[in-house]
Amino acid sequence: MKAVSIHSFGGPEVLQIEEVIQPTPASDEILVQVFASGINPADWVVRQGGNDFLRPFLKLPIILGVDAAGIVAEIGSEVTAFKKGDLVYGTANFPGDGSYAEYCVAKANQFALKPKSLDFIHAAGVPLASLTAWTALFAHGSFKAGQRVLIQGASGGVGSFAVQFAKAKGAYVIGIASTGNLDYLKHLGADQVIDYTSQKFEETVSDIDLVVEASPQRDNTERLKAISVLKLGGTFVSVNIDAPVNEEVKVALAQKQAKGEFPAYQARREWLEEIAALIDKGDVKVSIDKVFPMEEVAAAHRKSETWHVRGKLILEIKKML
Ligand SMILES: NC(=O)c1ccc[n+]([C@@H]2O[C@H](COP(=O)([O-])OP(=O)(O)OC[C@H]3O[C@@H](n4cnc5c(N)ncnc54)[C@H](OP(=O)(O)O)[C@@H]3O)[C@@H](O)[C@H]2O)c1
Repeated sequence: MKAVSIHSFGGPEVLQIEEVIQPTPASDEILVQVFASGINPADWVVRQGGNDFLRPFLKLPIILGVDAAGIVAEIGSEVTAFKKGDLVYGTANFPGDGSYAEYCVAKANQFALKPKSLDFIHAAGVPLASLTAWTALFAHGSFKAGQRVLIQGASGGVGSFAVQFAKAKGAYVIGIASTGNLDYLKHLGADQVIDYTSQKFEETVSDIDLVVEASPQRDNTERLKAISVLKLGGTFVSVNIDAPVNEEVKVALAQKQAKGEFPAYQARREWLEEIAALIDKGDVKVSIDKVFPMEEVAAAHRKSETWHVRGKLILEIKKML
């Protein structure tokens, strides 16, 4: 099968399209014929050799890619949730050989039936970013309907889903992005938008129940500002688990009696099913910034590395006829 793999860590030039052996699913896995794969920052972080968190788990050569949308081609002996021919979306085993390939294997519980209203291109943009937003808001964010929720990086992959999930579940949502993305945030349903290029959010909002740091900033000074707008007893969730907080941030959290959470995404079928239902109901939209053919994977990585993606970038593996 054709796959995008790397034999050494480095820049986009290390990406190679090559013929590799099609994988075989273990007893608890499925083999998915991949039609489209979402591009995520995690893909080029792996390409570069990983961060402190990932590095010990990376073995070369490796096929990149986490998000996949496609058709179940084979099921492991213990898998009961799927049958051959099911149209699915989910996340490949991570870290490990991934979804920039004509076929990938994954634990069956990391996949669900794809939203019926989405084609493979749009479905491939959902899994990792939406699961990260879901994990942040609902598993770690102490989210409750009626709360005031502030999303940083609201126009990106994770942020776009966080805005829509929080809105769909009854929050007052404030999104932060750059000037050109403010209308996009309103289109997603944000009640209030802040332009980080011309406004100081810490002087604009207050009494926030939950801040989600879904921007790529990894900056403890920015975190202090985010904690300053929290209500007493609020929650600060950062999805940037590779950027630990310093003592000053710990003290600020304690003074606010606030919770600080740094979760990795959890890949769970039941969450992907709930997300698919929200999408099919029309409560959540999937915005695609650009679709790249497999041959242009290096260009896709370069675009993702700018950190200015509106919604999702997609790698098309196979065209639907
Ligand atoms: N914990 C996990 O398991 C997990 C999983 C996935 C992702 N992540 C992390 O989540 C973060 C977001 O990922 P993503 O896939 O959503 O990335 P993305 O699609 O590239 O989005 C990044 C967003 O950040 C905004 N941004 C860029 N520079 C900024 C700045 N200086 N200040 C404020 N906002 C800025 C951009 O908005 P504008 O274009 O409007 O500036 C952009 O929409 C990344 O740091 C990623 O590593 C963590």
